[in-house]
Order: sequence, then structure tokens, then C-alpha cells
Amino acid sequence: MRITKDSSHLHLNREYFPPGDKSISHRSIFLSALGENEVKIENFLFCDDCLRTINAFQKMGVNIKIEDEVVKVKGVGLRGLKPPPEAIYLGNSGTTARLLLGVLSAQQFECELYGDRSLNARPMERVTHPLSLMGAEFIFLEKEGYLPLRVSGGKLAGIEYKLPVASAQVKSALLLAGLYASGRTGIIEPAKSRDHTERMLKEFGVDIKIDGLRIEVTACEKISTEDIFVPGDISSAAFFIALALLLDDAYLVIRNVGINPTRMGFIEAVKRMGGDVDVIPYKELKSGEPIGDIIVKSSQLKAIEVKGEEIPLMIDELPLIFLLGCYAQGVTRIYSASELRVKETDRINSVSANLNAMGGEIKVEGDDVIIYGNRRLKGANLRSFGDHRTAMVAVIAAVIGDGESNIDDLECVKISYPDFVSDVEKILDGKVKFKN
Ligand code: S3P
Repeated sequence: MRITKDSSHLHLNREYFPPGDKSISHRSIFLSALGENEVKIENFLFCDDCLRTINAFQKMGVNIKIEDEVVKVKGVGLRGLKPPPEAIYLGNSGTTARLLLGVLSAQQFECELYGDRSLNARPMERVTHPLSLMGAEFIFLEKEGYLPLRVSGGKLAGIEYKLPVASAQVKSALLLAGLYASGRTGIIEPAKSRDHTERMLKEFGVDIKIDGLRIEVTACEKISTEDIFVPGDISSAAFFIALALLLDDAYLVIRNVGINPTRMGFIEAVKRMGGDVDVIPYKELKSGEPIGDIIVKSSQLKAIEVKGEEIPLMIDELPLIFLLGCYAQGVTRIYSASELRVKETDRINSVSANLNAMGGEIKVEGDDVIIYGNRRLKGANLRSFGDHRTAMVAVIAAVIGDGESNIDDLECVKISYPDFVSDVEKILDGKVKFKN
């Protein structure tokens, strides 16, 4: 795909509604499928990954329909899932895989799961290990610790488990398994990760206690689900926040976006860089999620350090810090970003390869990333590596950079943001064109 610009001066003055949040869309299906009621989900994200979650529950006998962009789920209750007729294909979706392992661990049937090449290469042991401590059994069909695998549900017993990495997917899998386990399931995170599962469970009447980094859940008989409105996805909006910050003449108002503090790491980091970003909260939704507007203006940025507890709060947006760092004054350093290496691709390598091809200077030392600033990127041949977020960072870099760029494949953006390309075109009044 060739990315060209009609004008060297791109101007942005717009209101923008980001698509529904991916993490919350997944959870809305999990909980409504296991709940007691018929639930309507609005502003659901119809991306490839979330459709995998819908498909998985349909395969297990849950009636899920999509009418006028509203998802309608007839919950079957915690014990109403049926054995799927065949192995469930999860595509590229890590969230579906890991959360589903939590649910399947407690079912009275066996089930096989497999993914695409990228998902089959992502670590599952971080979930299967604690779930086996609770009583589930896993048979790895090709490689120990990876999909494809067969899970045999068991009678689960609660455990007290210290997560070795801060991962909302692993935490959520254990919380879902904990809904079925005898006794109490206690999970201690090394640092706070996104807490959408906790918020939604609490709103729907589940006995869940949060004390600092420890979360405790007790088995329950039912989940009292209600209709859900999914807030806009801050991780999708982040691409446009970066765009507005880097353009010379930009004013962007982002509406209806989720502003859950466990997802605000990128905004906090951008503010530290001197970014002109204002967050205007307006309400909390029924799913327990805060929502608001974010206003972004062009900014001269300065280098920062990113490390420790803030990394899980901005894990999906970190690649954008690589890009912002190229334009900031000074040297930006990101420490211990090893979790980026186990995403849809090794994002430390994929993102730095693209930005370096454009004239950036990003060095990698172990899992630390050093980004030299004051660069002006220029068009180049870029690669998505089949990874949606790597592809979208490349697009924003191509729009900001001088001249034109080529990206080998943008098909993968459908994983999390099917309308990404048309939203970029729209927001820049058609001045940027994508041609095959
Ligand atoms: C997600 C958690 C994060 C994130 C992913 C979505 C979730 O993964 O990168 O895009 O919905 O729970 P980890 O839990 O593996 O960090």
C-alpha cells in the first residue's frame, strides 16, 4: 500500500469518535454469555479479534445475534455452555485464547483451541500453569506451553497466586476460573494492569474484593448481567493523539473515549513529554467504566524515561512512544519492555526496524529501548509483520514523515481497527491517500 500526501502542510481540526474498546468488547461477550439475562451490547468493536470471541461462544451453544450494530446475547448461565462440535479457531486473538482458557478450565467437557501462526507462537504457559494448580488439565498438541492445546475442565479449587508478569489477560483468566472454584481465589499482580474484568464483575454482582495489588474472587451461582455500552478505545485513539501532537497545525477533540486509569499510561507519558492533552471526564458507565473527552493540540515534545509500573498501563501504546521519541528533544529511554516481545510480533524489533528505515535512530539493549530525538523521518518501505499495531504506527509515521512510504500489508489492521485507514483519510480531509 502506497501512502501519498496532496499537500506538504497537513492540517487537522476535527472531532473524532474512536471505535469501541477491544478489551471491554471481549469481556462484554464473556460475561453476558455466562450471565443470566438477555443483554444488548452497544458500540461493540466489530474487529476480527472480538468476532473470534463471539464465534467461540456461539460454538458452545450461546445464542448471539448482531442486529443494527447491536450485539444481543442470550446468557446461558455459568453452567450452560455446551461442548463445541469441533476445535475452536481463535485467529490472532490472544485475549480470546487466554480468557477462554479460564472459562474452559471449569467446564465438564474437553475442548481444543488453536490459533493462527502468530497466536500459536505466543506463550500460554503463563495461564495454563496457574489454571493447572487450580485443577484443570492441558495437553499441548504440538509444543509444550503453546497452542494448539486440549483443555479438560476439572473441579477447580481456589489458589493464592502471585503473577510473575503484570498481565490483564492472565489475571482475567484466573478471575473467570475463580467464579467456579471452591474456596477463594486470590491473585496478586506485580503491578496494576487493566481492570475491566474486575469492574464488570463487580457491577454484575459478583463478590470481588480489591486491596491494592491483590484481587480476591469467590465462586458464585450467577452473574446478574445488564445492557452494556462499550466506551471508545483509548488504544485506538492513541494513534490519532500521536498524529495530532506531531502535526504542526492540529486540534483534535476525541469523544466518548474510555479513560479508565489503568489505561491512561500513554496520556500520562505524553503529558510528561510536554504534550498539550486535556482529559475531560463526564460520567461512569454501567459497566463501571469512566468515559470522557480528550483534547489534543500540536506540541513540541521533550524526551522522557518510561519504566516499571507504568509499562502495563500503556503496553499497547508503547510503540507510539518510539515514534514520539524520534521527534522529541533529547533521548527517550524505555526500560524493561520485555512484554512487547511477546505480542502479535516482537514489537521492539518490528517498530524500531520501521522507524530506523525512515531515518530514526532507535537502539535496543536487551529489553531497553533508546530513542534518539530531534529526527525528521522520511518515507521508506515499511513492513507490518502481520501485526496490527506495528502497521498502524507505521501509517502514522508515514503520514508525519516527509515524502511517500510503502507498507507491505495493511490487511492486519482489521484485528483491532477495521476502519483505521478510512479514519486517517477522513481526519485529514482526504489529503492523505492510500493506494494499492
Ligand atoms: C489485554 C491485555 C494486554 C494487551 C492486550 C489486551 C486484555 O495483554 O496487550 O492487547 O484485553 O486483557 P497482556 O495481558 O498480555 O499484557
